[in-house]
Amino acid sequence: MDEDDFVKMVEYLQKKIEYEEESTYSQTVIREYRNPANFGVLEHPDAVGMVKGPCGDTMKITLRVKDGLIRDGRFWTDGCGATIACGSMLTKMVEGKTPEEVSAITSKRLIDELEDLPKEHIHCSKLAVNTLHKAIESYHKD
Ligand code: FES
Repeated sequence: MDEDDFVKMVEYLQKKIEYEEESTYSQTVIREYRNPANFGVLEHPDAVGMVKGPCGDTMKITLRVKDGLIRDGRFWTDGCGATIACGSMLTKMVEGKTPEEVSAITSKRLIDELEDLPKEHIHCSKLAVNTLHKAIESYHKD
């Protein structure tokens, strides 16, 4: 295979991957996992949650709470692209909310914000929401 053939093959594979992504995930999911918001871990957070999902992947969420409102949130995961999209969207959804309002967020609500998730990735949204709820529990314990 010469260099031209190699470049063509790479371009073909890239297009194939993009096509598969677009036919599997919503535009919102693709946007969130290609360019996630709030990826990382806050130093000295007010609330921390870490959960390992049934698939073996882990998510960690750290929150900053001030004057009774969530002011900042970060997520970290070693999970799939759908989980990255979930963490990104979820940490955006919590900003400016009270811990009580955040406790009421369900995976269905997260999926609605993401404009749907394929059935085989529903557990990724549950992992994200369970991690968020764990973080809120840790806040209430303090
Ligand atoms: Fe494990 Fe998505 S979190 S497959």
